[in-house]
Amino acid sequence: MSSPVKYTLTGNIGVVTVDNPPVNALSHAVRQGLLDAFETAAGDASEALLLVCEGRTFIAGADISEFGQPPQEPFLPDLCDRMEASDKLFVAAIHGTALGGGFEVALSADYRCAVPSAKVGLPEVMLGLLPGAGGTQRTPRLAGVDAALQLMTSGKPIPAAMAKEAGLVDEIIEGDLVDGALTYVQKLLDDNAPRRSTSALDVPEHDAAIFDQFRAVLGKKARGQVAPQAIVDCVEKAAATPYEEGVAYERQRFMELMGGDQSKALRHFFFAERAAAKVDDLPRDVELRNVESVAVIGGGTMGGGIAMTFANAGIPVTLVEISDEALERGLAIIDRNYAGSVKRGKLSEDKAAACRALISGATDYSQLADVDLVIEAVFENLNLKKEIFAKLDDVCKDGAILATNTSYQDVNEIAAATKRPQDVLGLHFFSPAHIMKLLEVVRGEKTADDVLATCMKLAKRIRKVPVVAGVCYGFIGNRMLQPYAQQTQLLLLEGATPEQVDTAMENFGMAMGPLRVFDLAGLDVGYKAREALSEEEKGDPAGYRVPDLLVEAGRLGQKSGSGFYSYDENRKPTPDPEVHKMIEDTASELGIKRRDISDDEIVERLVGALVDEGHKIIDEGIAQRASDIDVVYVYGYGFPAFRGGPMFHASLTAG
Ligand code: 3HC
Ligand code: NAI
Repeated sequence: MSSPVKYTLTGNIGVVTVDNPPVNALSHAVRQGLLDAFETAAGDASEALLLVCEGRTFIAGADISEFGQPPQEPFLPDLCDRMEASDKLFVAAIHGTALGGGFEVALSADYRCAVPSAKVGLPEVMLGLLPGAGGTQRTPRLAGVDAALQLMTSGKPIPAAMAKEAGLVDEIIEGDLVDGALTYVQKLLDDNAPRRSTSALDVPEHDAAIFDQFRAVLGKKARGQVAPQAIVDCVEKAAATPYEEGVAYERQRFMELMGGDQSKALRHFFFAERAAAKVDDLPRDVELRNVESVAVIGGGTMGGGIAMTFANAGIPVTLVEISDEALERGLAIIDRNYAGSVKRGKLSEDKAAACRALISGATDYSQLADVDLVIEAVFENLNLKKEIFAKLDDVCKDGAILATNTSYQDVNEIAAATKRPQDVLGLHFFSPAHIMKLLEVVRGEKTADDVLATCMKLAKRIRKVPVVAGVCYGFIGNRMLQPYAQQTQLLLLEGATPEQVDTAMENFGMAMGPLRVFDLAGLDVGYKAREALSEEEKGDPAGYRVPDLLVEAGRLGQKSGSGFYSYDENRKPTPDPEVHKMIEDTASELGIKRRDISDDEIVERLVGALVDEGHKIIDEGIAQRASDIDVVYVYGYGFPAFRGGPMFHASLTAG
């Protein structure tokens, strides 16, 4: 088998080229190839070595698919040390993304050059790991402690220009990278540029308090996660001890993290997210439809966010409302959202203006004649949605994709309101739609393959994570929410308080406890939905009696200043004895005996409720695979990624 690493002598420069698609990950063969190339170079006439990569990117990291298998020599940390110790000047030339172990390889070079569009980063923390090939020791030596901690604990890659400012990149190459890099290396040789082993540098001066400051901030921002804290420990070690000691400590901590449940969960999640984008029974060669223009019907909470999502990806959007007044209101909310993004530094003023300019308004369906995709986001009412789809059927061009953002309604019935059910599907965004990453792509009975494939691909373009769901009440995520909500109410009646339930779930890692979520969403929403149901359809009264009483007492949640909690003017929740009494009275009325409930029981029962429903969803073929459910819950419902999602968590705890 030919090696993914090639070595050629170009004049006096030895060029080492990695070619291991798709992202040049450091598989065993790549590591061996790099070692061989450096050994060959040691004995030839080269005066310097240049490392470049073929394809779309520089090395994007260790090969994650090899993690968990018995490690094979050469190990990456040793390889990095070996490359750094080369007796020839060593330069790395970066394009695409130099990530994780890939960037650690580059840090072992004497000098680094990069094209302006390149990014560098140490994203190991996203996999529950720390940079384990000298990254925690070399990065602070080049960039200082603060910048190194920022880079490694956030896991966010930074652009080449910023990396240059931080001292992580030495030269920006305009034009062709290989040509430019060869010229750069020659110049270094001509100038007699000194060798610069990163590991031999001193860590720059810093305030010793910085480590505890990072620990405290991460204790809140990355609550419950072990890797960010371990990174701080390693950088502290780098500042206090010689490189050899620091790197041995890094190795030990890396191995600990690799064997732990959090990294297993996050590695599972990395592949789960990528698997979710694949639809098993779609032919590979299906031709995609073109989507270059979009219309959104309904400019309310969801419609506005959906319009922004497309505009932010450079796709023009027409927002259709029922009246001029409603349209003005919808567009004003979009304006406010863009202004907010600029104020928070998320978007530049120019970029926000350019995105906003892509959104136009209309009150007339005739404007939809030429659009490639329509997304309906009007009130959650089946008849209204059917009416709208019948109208779309009349005005839209052949081949236009017609989507509904419904949360619960039957997509097949909506499709049947048209003469082209093959062009209809659900595109279920989550609130706020321009921020939340999840997109449930609801495949109707008659949805055409090319419509589904187009929307899966489109999701990536608009920076969403798609998961395919079949048609049922609530699809994947909202369907699982029902037994979860019911179990929450049972826990209250059996003896827990709202604050105990929320705190237990937040300590487990949920972004927000269930009762705080209900208060945020508004208790009246469920109340109104229940009004339309028969007693039998409503199920066990224990599951909804307390929320009903709260609504009837005017406690609708945050918007009315009280719900399961009382809220001050800053929407800060305080436990409320009135609610405790309401819960106790309801329990006694329903004959439920109250007892002490442990936090563990709360977590076990609530996650258990999700998992039981998840199994039914898989059995019924609503989800393609268990890992898709994990993606839905992490990206749509604030389930902690470091637990891998509910289904993975259950498989781990089941042993
Ligand atoms: N190892 C193995 N496979 C990888 C990989 C890696 N490091 N990175 C990406 N892949 C695979 C993906 O699974 C995907 O496979 P598929 O096509 O079969 O689904 C394929 O490469 C393409 O990946 P994406 O769909 O993510 O492609 P994008 O172009 O959207 O993104 C990327 C490219 C930015 C490089 C992104 O893949 C990424 O962020 N990769 C992970 C980078 C990373 O975490 N590196 C650190 C690894 S840990 C490490 O290095 C430890 C060291 O410190 C010792
Ligand atoms: P909303 O009430 O905020 O907005 C609905 C908008 O539709 C209103 O502005 C209304 O004027 C407009 N509208 C009504 N009839 C119309 C018509 N015939 N033509 C054009 N516009 C019309 O509702 P929201 O919350 O945005 O929900 C919209 C849809 O999205 C619903 O189906 C809902 O279930 C779904 N959804 C809601 C989520 C949420 O968190 N709010 C999350 C995911 C989906």
